Amino acid sequence: MPRRPMMAANWKMNKTVTEAQNYTAALLPRAADAEGVDVAVFVPFTCLHEVGRMAENSAVIAGAQNFYYEDSGAFTGEISAPMLKDVLARAVLVGHSERREIFGETDTLVAHKTKRALDAGLLPVVCVGETKEERDAGGMWEKVSTQVGRVLEEIGEVGGEGIVFAYEPIWAIGTGDTATPDDAQDAIGRIRELLREERGGEFADGARVLYGGSVKPANVAEIMGQNDVDGALVGGASLEVDSFVQLVEAAEPPSSDGE
Ligand code: PGA
Repeated sequence: MPRRPMMAANWKMNKTVTEAQNYTAALLPRAADAEGVDVAVFVPFTCLHEVGRMAENSAVIAGAQNFYYEDSGAFTGEISAPMLKDVLARAVLVGHSERREIFGETDTLVAHKTKRALDAGLLPVVCVGETKEERDAGGMWEKVSTQVGRVLEEIGEVGGEGIVFAYEPIWAIGTGDTATPDDAQDAIGRIRELLREERGGEFADGARVLYGGSVKPANVAEIMGQNDVDGALVGGASLEVDSFVQLVEAAEPPSSDGE
């Protein structure tokens, strides 16, 4: 079974509730027409309930951009996995580079959160990637393999279909500077190899690995054309629904009857 592609919007710290409603209302019918692709939107907490409610029983997966791994208690400012489920989230980003770089999230914290998301029945989309300095110094794989490896150590026995990784080189995020399709394939191919070594073929063949970093309608086809790339996590080009729908359409697998 080929992996089902995923196109994921990361709104970051953008959109009011009204803007989120308008976007979701426009996206729902168009996502319903998209065959064979999972469409996810990772939205701010403040509009998650509304997007979750609108997307319930639809083709669109509503997701959060972050959470904390404890279920409740004295953690001022935090949101737990049961709270996300309560507002109809089905997925969550974990360890986005902005969380790691700006808010100091460590590999260990990211691993704990991933485990908690899985246990709570939320689909985790675990983000990994290197800085420009790390890449220039030849350290891309050391960084990325450590990030992925720490998560694999923590998560226990799960099927590959239950987890998504996103390779997002930090130097390509929001810069307009996309990794070449070869760079994306190289890193993602190595991630899949690591999954295979650590977890076996079934896990590696089932887990989806997305690319993220300045994906837009003009470059999505080339990126999606790479063997191991199962979709994209998109910031800037996901903020306008028309542009995001173009990306969703580009992720649709060719239909079996060749149409
Ligand atoms: P970008 O962001 O598409 O704006 O580069 C991607 C991301 O940070 O997930």
